[in-house]
Amino acid sequence: MVEFSLPANSKPGPGKTFKAAPEATRIKRFIIYRYDPDSGDNPRLDTFEVDLDRCGPMVLDGLIKIKNEIDPTLAFRRSCREGVCGSCAFNIDGTNTLACIKAIDDIRGDIKIYPLPHLPVVKDLVPDLSIPYAQYASIKPWLQSDTPPPAGERRQSTDERAKLDGLWECILCFSCQTSCPSYWWNGDRYLGPAILLQAYRWIADSRDEYTGERLDDLNDPFRLYRCHTIMNCTSTCPKNLNPGLAVAEIKDALIRRQ
Ligand code: SF4
Ligand code: FES
Repeated sequence: MVEFSLPANSKPGPGKTFKAAPEATRIKRFIIYRYDPDSGDNPRLDTFEVDLDRCGPMVLDGLIKIKNEIDPTLAFRRSCREGVCGSCAFNIDGTNTLACIKAIDDIRGDIKIYPLPHLPVVKDLVPDLSIPYAQYASIKPWLQSDTPPPAGERRQSTDERAKLDGLWECILCFSCQTSCPSYWWNGDRYLGPAILLQAYRWIADSRDEYTGERLDDLNDPFRLYRCHTIMNCTSTCPKNLNPGLAVAEIKDALIRRQ
């Protein structure tokens, strides 16, 4: 029988516990993944007791409170705190989502927070996004046209513009990307749902004149066809987008082109 075991340096070591002040009455426990590859130590899970009477309502508020008041060494990304920058995506309570729009009250029991899965960890909750960003650059995410620009705007009809709805709203948080088992196993060659949704955003744009080249570039057993319609991507997207549908639209466009 095949035996799978974790490498020795990925087995969790003992975590630290930070107790709330004795006068706190409404306590929530945040259990947070900690890892510093430069230290040579194994990862650990630290427990922080947070007084909810002195904390904002969102999971990100709890993380900021922990960093400001309890342990300034905790590393995580965040910026806008309103679900538009895509920085604060973590695995929270078992689901990839944005900490700034996830309410603490929506989580029963302890709040467990890990970095987005199956990416190398830079530190604590910060994953290394080098590969997804290189894949994003590879799809040429900008308007390509050989027609000289008009004096004013490049116009679209209302229907043409409507085809971009459900696509332009993507904030590249990579929650979908890192929830996809195909991306876990083939992330070096499969583009993944976030990048394919972005690719389709340009294929669907009536102003772009490189649809053929874009489809040629995607027509590959790994870049596109590693998608097996598992649909974790669509289930997890915190912006309620449908990357699975965008991938299906690309496959459909390739079939229609034949
Ligand atoms: S499709 Fe949704 S989950 Fe995926 S990167 Fe865009 S916003 Fe994030
Ligand atoms: S901080 Fe910008 S999406 Fe959460």
